[in-house]
Amino acid sequence: MATPHSLRAPEVFGETPSAGAPSAGSAASTSSPGSGASDTPANGKPDQPLGPTGRPLREIPDPPPLDGHGPARVLAMCNQKGGVGKTTSTINLGASLAEYGRKVLLVDFDPQGALSVGLGVQPHELDQTVYNAVMESSINVRDILRKTSIDGVDLLPSNIDLSAAEVQLVAEVGREHSLMRVLRPLVGEYDFVLVDCQPSLGLLTVNALTAADGVIIPLECEFFSLRGVALLMDTIDKVRERLNPSLDIIGILATMFDPRTLHSKEVISRVVEAFGETVFDTVINRTVRFPETTVAGEPITTWAPKSVGATAYRQLAREVIRR
Ligand SMILES: Nc1ncnc2c1ncn2[C@@H]1O[C@H](COP(=O)(O)OP(=O)(O)OP(=O)(O)O)[C@@H](O)[C@H]1O
Ligand SMILES: [Mg+2]
Repeated sequence: MATPHSLRAPEVFGETPSAGAPSAGSAASTSSPGSGASDTPANGKPDQPLGPTGRPLREIPDPPPLDGHGPARVLAMCNQKGGVGKTTSTINLGASLAEYGRKVLLVDFDPQGALSVGLGVQPHELDQTVYNAVMESSINVRDILRKTSIDGVDLLPSNIDLSAAEVQLVAEVGREHSLMRVLRPLVGEYDFVLVDCQPSLGLLTVNALTAADGVIIPLECEFFSLRGVALLMDTIDKVRERLNPSLDIIGILATMFDPRTLHSKEVISRVVEAFGETVFDTVINRTVRFPETTVAGEPITTWAPKSVGATAYRQLAREVIRR
């Protein structure tokens, strides 16, 4: 879906929570998001349970099985703010999509290599990474591709070498299309390619947006996290205009939600007010289980398969398949 200009209304991104904040219409003030409490929502159906977004909870059925694989939808997991859950969401959405029989390629496109680490790969031990595939046309990307411990999930790993690409690519012809060229021979074999972006809007992220069919924006439930969204939307608009007309915003994923705090609820209600249906129904709660999974080097869906976090990422996978 395109980005309506109203999404960039300055009051939405005001710095003080109260300035220009949603008033009576606020989902938080009318519907106790996160509590699952009953209320009389706008749809007139009384006593329908509400989800954390303040909207009525919708059941999303399991997706039908696939007969074959590909071509993949390439999704960039993008937000220039650091530590909002991009990498955690890439791993766990990927693992959940694979549970539904989808073949998934995860692309670590951050020189920090956190996605690789989160899947049990030691980035500094790698001779060749996505950096080599991007910079050297003679490289066969299949030599860099690795299986992961998760059935149906492969990884294109990265390490600190990739930080050089940002500078080296500047002088290249077609510099924004470098990742797209790397992924082209692979998209036919996968159902989803998820690209974990670094926390910046630099050339690597522009490459990810150019290669992508859609963007998923993880957004931490924290007031300052709204500040950068206007800039991110402008970047997405520019990439759409100049490089990739079919780039879509698949959804905004609220992460690190704490149902006990009014603060978290207010942030969600502002995000829903600004972005409406673009916000996924699925909301990821803040829990120590996620940092644990990084240490374990596996997704929450196998580390704690029955946890709230695992259940949430499975629901997100169903939403993504349906969108
Ligand atoms: N829902 C959550 N609850 C609690 N901690 C979380 C949650 N999601 C992620 N974390 C933790 O927060 C930290 C940052 O998460 P993550 O690495 O996924 O963010 P990121 O946006 O990829 O960061 P960066 O911008 O540095 O790449 C990690 O330690 C991770 O384990
Ligand atoms: Mg990350």
